[in-house]
Amino acid sequence: MSTSSSTAAERNFKREFLKIVFVVFGVFLICFSIFFLNHHENNKYIIETLELNGSAEEGDALFKINCVGCHGITARGLVGPDLHSITKRLNDKEIIKQVTGGLTPPMPSFEIDPVNMSNLLRYLHSLE
Ligand code: HEC
Repeated sequence: MSTSSSTAAERNFKREFLKIVFVVFGVFLICFSIFFLNHHENNKYIIETLELNGSAEEGDALFKINCVGCHGITARGLVGPDLHSITKRLNDKEIIKQVTGGLTPPMPSFEIDPVNMSNLLRYLHSLE
């Protein structure tokens, strides 16, 4: 009698334990896929931008529309810093993150497609 009841309790415990393991594993899997998808998205945008060969003239036009208010008409700095030789201090990936990330208020985050981002990068390189 006592043996069979302890086996039942054991079975119950095993079932509960498996349930918990299953749930924990599921949560872990979901977190991991969200992290992976986010990570993958970012990289895709950066990779796509870096593969393009932008135009400095187009980038100049974009800069005049979006950036001169803070960085000055010749990018010599106003509210925001002078951007001449910025490409020596930051690599392209860091500049993309600066422009699209909105990590340093008051500079806003810009939603720029890879083609225009590549144009902007080319313009910033032309300032060296
Ligand atoms: C509302 C004002 C504002 C606008 C608009 C703006 N910026 Fe900025 N930007 C700043 C400020 C302020 C900083 C300095 C942030 C800090 O380092 O704390 C900055 C920093 C930067 C930096 C990094 C400079 C460094 O020395 O690290 C880059 C690159 C840059 N901006 C590019 C751009 C580009 C390209 C645009 C247009 C698409 C733009 N910014 C639009 C205000 C602005």
